[in-house]
Amino acid sequence: MSQTLKAVRGTRDLLPPETALWNRIEATARAVFARYNFGEIRTPVFEDTALFARGVGEETDIVSKEMYTWEDRDRLRVDDAQKPAINRAAGFVSFKNDSKATELGIEVTDQSYFLARSLTLRPENTAGVVRAYIEHGLGESGQLQKLYYIGPQFRRERPQKGRYRQFAQIGAEVIGPPSSGSESPLRDAEVLEMLATLLDELGITGWTLHLNSVGSAADRARYDIALRAALVPVVGQMCADCQRRAVTNPLRVLDCKVPADQPIIETLPVIADSLDEESKKHFAAVTAALDAAGVPYTLNHRLVRGLDYYTRTTFEFTHGGLGAQNALLGGGRYDGLSEALGGPRAPGIGFAMGEDRLVLTLLAQLDQKAVPPQADAFIAPLCDAKDEAKLARINAAALVLARELRHKGLWIELGDGGFRLKKSFEAAEKTARRIVILGEDELQSGILTVKTFSTGIQTKVPRAELAAFLSEPASE
Ligand code: HAM
Repeated sequence: MSQTLKAVRGTRDLLPPETALWNRIEATARAVFARYNFGEIRTPVFEDTALFARGVGEETDIVSKEMYTWEDRDRLRVDDAQKPAINRAAGFVSFKNDSKATELGIEVTDQSYFLARSLTLRPENTAGVVRAYIEHGLGESGQLQKLYYIGPQFRRERPQKGRYRQFAQIGAEVIGPPSSGSESPLRDAEVLEMLATLLDELGITGWTLHLNSVGSAADRARYDIALRAALVPVVGQMCADCQRRAVTNPLRVLDCKVPADQPIIETLPVIADSLDEESKKHFAAVTAALDAAGVPYTLNHRLVRGLDYYTRTTFEFTHGGLGAQNALLGGGRYDGLSEALGGPRAPGIGFAMGEDRLVLTLLAQLDQKAVPPQADAFIAPLCDAKDEAKLARINAAALVLARELRHKGLWIELGDGGFRLKKSFEAAEKTARRIVILGEDELQSGILTVKTFSTGIQTKVPRAELAAFLSEPASE
């Protein structure tokens, strides 16, 4: 026997009844986004690798080790003179003496260089949304763009509870030219207030909003110098990751979870001390608006986030029920991202929620499995299964009845005339609130026998009244 195939490590199948909960979460999110006047954007699940390298940052964990990247099959030949202008940052991988080119029947000489496009499954969606904003000139309307998305993302992380290699995000971005008000602290506060509303409407209780400002690019450059200087005497006593980060991206040292490093990190300078007046004013206006709206938050000066595009306001919502992967969602402002991707100035702010984690939180919180939805009725055709002509006739009649009731909006499960009555009852009790028996007698008389499981009462119902009867709550 051949070996059975399984879903790839870090990916999973979502099955009913849990998918009903996923759908409810998405429906609630769409309804809340609509009230805040957001429209949906759907971008491709793969993009040029360069988008993430430039957008998210080459030094981040996401780009340096977690992306699913491959070379596209097509080859483009360039000559020596063109080669220096084309590099990885432009989204290509180059080859000399490329065997794939030979395979594709392209003549290879000593002077030939070949380029292949480098493509990547999206590890996040902010870079894609900003690329689309630039590509479609969305800023030209002068209006603020308020866009939301729901969809899969891919990161090659070590899988564990709440952390997968394919996971789903529900996210939103507010972006526009400065004249649209995109830079205003009111945008930050409105996005955070919307998130508090959304989590409340999803029924998620006990969340904590961690809030920080990582300042402007200039503030961060100042902080980078202060942090590097403070790290010099202590970094030798820190973990290997911190020693590496101290060189590549010192801000990420603040993210370290190693217990022995914590007392050292507490002595490092905080970014709040490096903010200029403008950044301080912006942050104070965000917190004042949150206070006025009654949205609770905790200031967390160590919240730096794992993506390079952030400026000023950054945030995460955590939940105690999630264990190690406790971030329900994260986000922040990215005032320079559009320019980094070659676009016009377009400050923005957004977030992404981990939908897998929302589901985990709700399941734990409800302390129950997602309850399977119950059909209004199970139709049980009944006849002597050995008589093939009768079986075909009663099954066809049952399909007609099911069609009639479904057209009236009822949820119907359809059995089979080949089942014995006992088997029909067993199947019906698992899936529906009532069973409708359809035998030769019922077919002739037009009076159907209906049993309601919650009360055990059996009722004779004329076919014309059946839909109305089945719509009644089962407990009556
Ligand atoms: P992020 O913090 O990398 O931000 O991801 C946001 C959320 O996605 C996390 O808080 C978590 O709930 C979920 N998530 C991330 N990785 C995984 C994983 N491997 N398995 C399950 N869930 C995961 C971003 O992606 C930014 N694009 C957010 C943003 C939008 N910032 C501005 N706009």
